[in-house]
Amino acid sequence: MNDNAHDLEKMIDELATQLADGFFQTIQVLTRVTSALEKYYEGSHSRFVAEKSAMIAKELGMNEEEVMETRIAALLHDIGKVGMSDALLFKYPTELSQQEYKQYSLHPEIGMQILKPYKAFDNIGEIIYQSHEKLDGSGFPRHLQRDNIHPGAKIIIVVDYFHNGVYRRLRQKPEVTGGSGQVTSTANYLESTRDKYNNTLNFLHKKSNILFEKKAVQLLTEIMELERRNLGHKSVMRLPVNALEAGMIFAEDYYTSFGMLVAAKGEVITKESMKSLARFVDAGEVPFKILVIK
Ligand SMILES: [Fe+2]
Repeated sequence: MNDNAHDLEKMIDELATQLADGFFQTIQVLTRVTSALEKYYEGSHSRFVAEKSAMIAKELGMNEEEVMETRIAALLHDIGKVGMSDALLFKYPTELSQQEYKQYSLHPEIGMQILKPYKAFDNIGEIIYQSHEKLDGSGFPRHLQRDNIHPGAKIIIVVDYFHNGVYRRLRQKPEVTGGSGQVTSTANYLESTRDKYNNTLNFLHKKSNILFEKKAVQLLTEIMELERRNLGHKSVMRLPVNALEAGMIFAEDYYTSFGMLVAAKGEVITKESMKSLARFVDAGEVPFKILVIK
């Protein structure tokens, strides 16, 4: 190989790395845009749906690329809701007026349109577009059925339904850090969410194979049961930010004064999240003592 050819190869390699970085940077930027929607939930809706959907996709035998597409589509599935009013987004779909419902049901298409200019997002945009389609054709916007629905979209709707059923807030402002509704023990946490948890899973099982992909429902149930069982053996405590350890779990949501979700209840603490939290503590945006499950 002559030098020129070698240089060219090197250049393409570098370009590919840059493009790949650009792809992930774009996802990061878009994820920050959707963080405006997190106030409607306890914990992070997009991160929960992304994490569990990816776990299910993997269990279903999807390849690495498909798992990644499912994860990213899940992370961004609600991006089309950005800009819709609080009055609309704090309601359940069943409570919306006809006009409001029309507007709300545009969000999967708006999401797809937002991603459209970027070729690398073609599949992801399509999954988002389909993320409200149900097996029997009763979903929206195109009333797709069974095999016509993308496998990733069939997973996302299950996890999305579950998280909405258990962790959605209704018509109230996000709790300010350290506010009411505090978790004092894991038993208390499990107890306080038990009814919603059971009702939501019961509905998913009842509608398995009718609205929702049966395997996805089963896998999500297994994942959540295991998570709750493990939680039962742990304890809740308030620790100074410098005493946190990777692997502990946030027991509260932590918002900045300007409404950005810094740490989400239920999320595992990582070295990165500790660093970012410490910066917000230094800035006085988050209290020094953090409620965690250990
Ligand atoms: Fe959602």
